[in-house]
Amino acid sequence: MMRERTEAIAAHLAKITGLAFSPEQLSGLEDFLRKRFAILHISDPAVYIARLEDPAEFLEAVDRLTVKETFFYRHEAQFDAFMEHLLPVFLAGAAGEKRPVRLWCAGCCTGEEPYTLAILAAEAGCLDRIEILATDIHKGYLEAAMAGVYSGRSVEKLSPDILEKYFSKKGESFRLREDIRRKVDFKYLNLGGTFFPSFLNGTAGLDAVFCRNVLIYFEKARVREIIIRFTECLRDGGVLALGHSEMLPQDWPLAVQAAGEAFFYRPKKEEPAGALLPPVEPAKPQKRIISPAPPPAEAPGALLLEAERLADAGRAAEAAVLCRRLIKENYALEKAHYLLGLLELARPEKALEHFKKTVYLNSGHLQARLHLAQCEEKLGRAGDAAREYRNLGRLAAARPPGELLDAVEGITCGMLALIAENALKKPSGPDAEKNR
Ligand SMILES: C[S@@+](CC[C@H](N)C(=O)[O-])C[C@H]1O[C@@H](n2cnc3c(N)ncnc32)[C@H](O)[C@@H]1O
Repeated sequence: MMRERTEAIAAHLAKITGLAFSPEQLSGLEDFLRKRFAILHISDPAVYIARLEDPAEFLEAVDRLTVKETFFYRHEAQFDAFMEHLLPVFLAGAAGEKRPVRLWCAGCCTGEEPYTLAILAAEAGCLDRIEILATDIHKGYLEAAMAGVYSGRSVEKLSPDILEKYFSKKGESFRLREDIRRKVDFKYLNLGGTFFPSFLNGTAGLDAVFCRNVLIYFEKARVREIIIRFTECLRDGGVLALGHSEMLPQDWPLAVQAAGEAFFYRPKKEEPAGALLPPVEPAKPQKRIISPAPPPAEAPGALLLEAERLADAGRAAEAAVLCRRLIKENYALEKAHYLLGLLELARPEKALEHFKKTVYLNSGHLQARLHLAQCEEKLGRAGDAAREYRNLGRLAAARPPGELLDAVEGITCGMLALIAENALKKPSGPDAEKNR
């Protein structure tokens, strides 16, 4: 009986996350559900499935279903090939366009993979020219990643001099250097959803996506859709890095690129990746950007959509021009300021101005409040950051936890409340002094 209930709930979780569960994971889930059913006084799986709308419950359940296996410099041949053969090309291209090289580790677990990239970039002297986004579905792993404290086993592949240079030893643990920790932007993102590519969460216009040893745990039928989405996150010439044993079927629209002793995937040129995804609204004709202002009745909405589309395509400068025009003409002010803030994230003092204006225009804009707090943190103003996180936590907790915030797809009020709470608890977080 309990097994049947577990299977019904597992099927629901599989639909949301894309994961396929092993018998051991199902047993783990069963133990968890037995306890939850007793605490919540329920027996009907449908009641529990409704309860999973609450992000806190969802995250607790998902925590039982993911596999934690990672370490620094895992599969070094691929890191070495990336640093030697691909990163120099990306750096040259990015320099020409005056932008950073942007990398995404999807399914980053406790952070070893993105931090390895950051350490290698520091060693190559280009740390300040790259941005690393790292995402996972497991909040506990993300918290551990942000803390940046590792066991000896996790760092055993690193050479003694790298260990000495980038870590401080605390008892049996190794604490990663602050500048490397700050380099990686950790975020919650469920790969089973349709939240990428999106400029709003940083998953558009990327040079490389690393998704290693993650999709092996997914239902086979979901993998193709996710891979195609990854290719859409890449700018021209970008690559996808999978685990070294994860080979994709030959008839998928990807070309293998050998580099050193490793291989990467690139979208095949002749077959547009988007053709395989569910139909999306056709892009607006390009000339709209340079055409005179359309009639006022439709101008703000159309211009804003166009700005968002340009931003998603990695054309930040053009998107910013449209946003400034909207602001100048007094249209769509809140949204234009918010988008401009996102476009300026690399310059936190500029971004901050736009997020402040967004919040001034709409005090309930929780995503802008999150960015405000993060910008203050980046600028080293711990007190201001703590104040912003407290405001965010208070406002997010006052709304229904399952309420979806449309601008950041897939993020709910409950998740933002958790993010604020965790930020205030972080050892290096804005309330660190108070917590000591
Ligand atoms: C085995 S670890 C791989 C870690 C790292 N990429 C590496 O190769 O060392 C798999 C990670 O995928 C994450 N994961 C599983 N399902 C996910 C999903 N639907 N969305 C995002 N991350 C997911 C797990 O939480 C876990 O951290």
